[in-house]
Amino acid sequence: MGRLDGKVALITGGAGGLGRQTAELFLNEGAKIALVDIDVLKLDKIRNELGSENIITIEADVTNESNVRYYVEQTVNEFDQIDIFFNNAGIIGEIGSIDEQSLGNFNKVLSINTTGAFLGLKHVLPVMKRQQQGTVINTSSVDGLRGSPNLSPYSASKHAVVGLTKTAALENAAYNVRVNSIHPAPVTGNMMETVEKGLSAVQENESSEVKEALTDSIPMGRYAESEDISKVVLFLASDDSDFVTGSQYRVDGGMGATS
Ligand SMILES: NC(=O)c1ccc[n+]([C@@H]2O[C@H](COP(=O)([O-])OP(=O)(O)OC[C@H]3O[C@@H](n4cnc5c(N)ncnc54)[C@H](O)[C@@H]3O)[C@@H](O)[C@H]2O)c1
Repeated sequence: MGRLDGKVALITGGAGGLGRQTAELFLNEGAKIALVDIDVLKLDKIRNELGSENIITIEADVTNESNVRYYVEQTVNEFDQIDIFFNNAGIIGEIGSIDEQSLGNFNKVLSINTTGAFLGLKHVLPVMKRQQQGTVINTSSVDGLRGSPNLSPYSASKHAVVGLTKTAALENAAYNVRVNSIHPAPVTGNMMETVEKGLSAVQENESSEVKEALTDSIPMGRYAESEDISKVVLFLASDDSDFVTGSQYRVDGGMGATS
């Protein structure tokens, strides 16, 4: 018996490190998966690697409302329902102090990380309300709960995800639809390599030194691995969390305990 037997999960950012890892875990737990991303080549590769009949992939840009409507419709057409929505697509954007940030970059990061999350909620929640059940996990970050020097667009976009999460939780509690956010520490993968490079340019030191300093800021002394995060996503996706809504789940190796 899997913890998600009979459930349908929709995952955005599905071609990325965390999306892929969560898709694999959910499949192993018995779910059917709709994997959404803008990167169709990576989506194809993952579908081949996972090699399951229980997965469909959908090319979509989370910032485009007709694309969002399309990924929701495709999922319902294929699997009839959406029980779990992992609202997870995101980018880090350019790195630099506020006075060095371009408006274009600020708008781009907000558009993917915040507007993309909003549009996903806007079109998935009516399906869950009709079903009178569902669970949403929005991906924020530790940077959605604290200031993060040189990452103002990212930090602002991820704070906004908390506001969306709490509001959606209140609006949908009466329908038995739960909405929570997760707040990962740095995770091993592409995104942190970009952060390390960007911060090393700003700080005029080596990427390896940036990585060492970031690692030192995590009490458990290491970056998260995607599995560390997806296990918490599974808890929020499963019935084990059936009285949890509107909450912010840190998965951060103790970082939150320092403030
Ligand atoms: N990696 C970390 O250290 C870390 C830490 C905290 C939070 N997060 C958050 O976790 C989430 C997943 O990140 P990840 O680590 O898997 O990064 P990743 O870069 O591997 O994956 C992100 C995915 O989002 C997709 N994407 C970007 N723009 C899109 C768009 N407009 N439409 C559709 N898809 C789009 C990308 O193609 C990519 O596949 C993000 O929201 C990120 O902000 C990551």
